[in-house]
Amino acid sequence: MSVVNIGLIGAGTVGCGVIKILNQNKEIIKNRTGLTLNLKKIADNDPGRKRPVKLPKKKLTSDAWDVINDDSIDIVIELVGGTTIAKDFVLEAIKNGKHVITANKALLAHHGKTIFGEAAKKGVEVGFEASVGGGIPIIKSTQESYAANNILSIHGIMNGTSNYILSTMTEHGYEFEDALKEAQEKGYAEADPSFDIDGVDAAHKLSILIMLSFGTFLDFDKIHVEGIRNITSLDIAYADELGYQIKLLSIAKSREQGLEAGVYPTLVKKGTQLADVSGAFNAIYVVGDAVGPTMLYGMGAGMMPTASAVVSDVIHVAKHLSLGNTHPAMPHPYKSKGNSSLIKTSEISTKYYLRFQAADIPGILGNITSCLGKNNISIESVIQKSRHLGGGDVPIVIMTHEAKEKNLVSALKEISKFKAITGKTNFIRIEEL
Ligand code: HSE
Repeated sequence: MSVVNIGLIGAGTVGCGVIKILNQNKEIIKNRTGLTLNLKKIADNDPGRKRPVKLPKKKLTSDAWDVINDDSIDIVIELVGGTTIAKDFVLEAIKNGKHVITANKALLAHHGKTIFGEAAKKGVEVGFEASVGGGIPIIKSTQESYAANNILSIHGIMNGTSNYILSTMTEHGYEFEDALKEAQEKGYAEADPSFDIDGVDAAHKLSILIMLSFGTFLDFDKIHVEGIRNITSLDIAYADELGYQIKLLSIAKSREQGLEAGVYPTLVKKGTQLADVSGAFNAIYVVGDAVGPTMLYGMGAGMMPTASAVVSDVIHVAKHLSLGNTHPAMPHPYKSKGNSSLIKTSEISTKYYLRFQAADIPGILGNITSCLGKNNISIESVIQKSRHLGGGDVPIVIMTHEAKEKNLVSALKEISKFKAITGKTNFIRIEEL
């Protein structure tokens, strides 16, 4: 085989980046693979739309099935997104014996087991480097470079939109809504930002890394997911005063009892690598038993970084094709060393940041702390500021020692019934890396 024929479905931002890279780096790619990569067909439901690259008219079709059913196409790139029609495209392409490259994290998080299973049956590859961390090479690192390790933990900033918003709130003291508005104006957040700010996108990515690192396809709906809508400028200011930054982290930890996994806002110590990741950047901090702590950092989204990851998969598959030796999809299912059943969030233990809003009356601090004590929660430090919330209310900020989440939830439920508690209590988990 000297030419590999590629079909692209979805000529949006990333699709155009793929076209651009395949053109501008044609020679480099040929040298690396020994093959000519021929982009044979491009399907898009709006072929006439204005784009940053020229689409060759004779290759264009508005019908994705023209690509999927073309016998001469070896590799199909799916950049449509979503979990409905994209699933049909991917499964049908696999059925037709094509290798598939996708950036679609939602699809893999919800239907990965089916897709990898079908690909394994057909002996075709599924490349998904672009599905997590955009241009960051986390997928191949996990599949190859960390392969000798028992992975102990993953902590990722895997949603650039949320990280941009939290960074803006930290830098300028903005409230969430203002930071979101700015992110939308600058093109970092979509008109409907819910997948990003509610942690869903980060959870899709986390579930893919869990599948690779811990050998388990989690039931996506069981992953604990919280977004950043409830983070206030007050929390960011207190976190800063206490030496922390607030980050939306995707977390997976291998424990004796199983796997702790979740996406939620987290206090991380200032000066640590993850705390220093700001703006729209992503970073993934992985600890393996042999390699120790490592961190990969880069652009988690955008036309060229994401296209870089897509084309890396094309090259990966093309190299195998040139050797006449494809590597069916994934070595799955396999048994990881540890227990990979999901631990309920109520059973996790960590340190907490708590912010109460209370009427400044004698005894309220004592009542709060004794309720925490009664629930087996030990206090590390307390900050009570003077009245500046209006109406005689004060913020009371408490940092706890490590405590069980279900004890904390019980304590907060009791405390919320105190007459002197005048606003919503915010609690944020603390991660010590
Ligand atoms: N919307 C994502 C982010 C990029 O903000 O990081 C694509 O996954």
